[in-house]
Amino acid sequence: MSKVSTNTVSFTLNGVKKTFETRPDEKLLALLRRNGYRGTKYGCGQGTCGACTVIMDGRAVYACLMYAMQAEGSKVRTIESSGTFENPGEFQKELVAAGAVQCGYCIPGIVMSATALMEAEKDVTDEIAREYMDGNLCRCTGYEKIWIALRRVLDRKPGEKKPAAAKRGKK
Ligand code: FES
Ligand code: FES
Repeated sequence: MSKVSTNTVSFTLNGVKKTFETRPDEKLLALLRRNGYRGTKYGCGQGTCGACTVIMDGRAVYACLMYAMQAEGSKVRTIESSGTFENPGEFQKELVAAGAVQCGYCIPGIVMSATALMEAEKDVTDEIAREYMDGNLCRCTGYEKIWIALRRVLDRKPGEKKPAAAKRGKK
């Protein structure tokens, strides 16, 4: 039987420096989930649905397409960094208020793409918002309520934001 090689990868995860054992063929999504970061969902596994979206160095990426080792030295954020059930983030509150959460499977990825959008862009037009969000599919809501929730947050977001440098960057 062939020997499977194991390596380590180190990156900052939700603000904390971490080192994980991994293998050259392990995807970032698998590493996250087997280490307890299960808010990041497995949907298609093929870079289509966006359920696995995390933020890496300011860009929304599909964790199902990236090898874990590609995260070396980077800053990764998962949905676990975006609020809790008891203390949800602003967009999460609006999603609930708008009735935009049905099965909820898509929501972690949608929140992460919206977070990348809100952190990177100011004066967000509908076109810019769609550019960031079009990689996240939802099979339940028809998108309208998600859109209403996002627009509510964007429309009241104040003042200074970072320059437009970080559109979606799936790897
Ligand atoms: S699981 Fe569907 S894009 Fe990653
Ligand atoms: S709420 Fe079910 S997939 Fe979006």
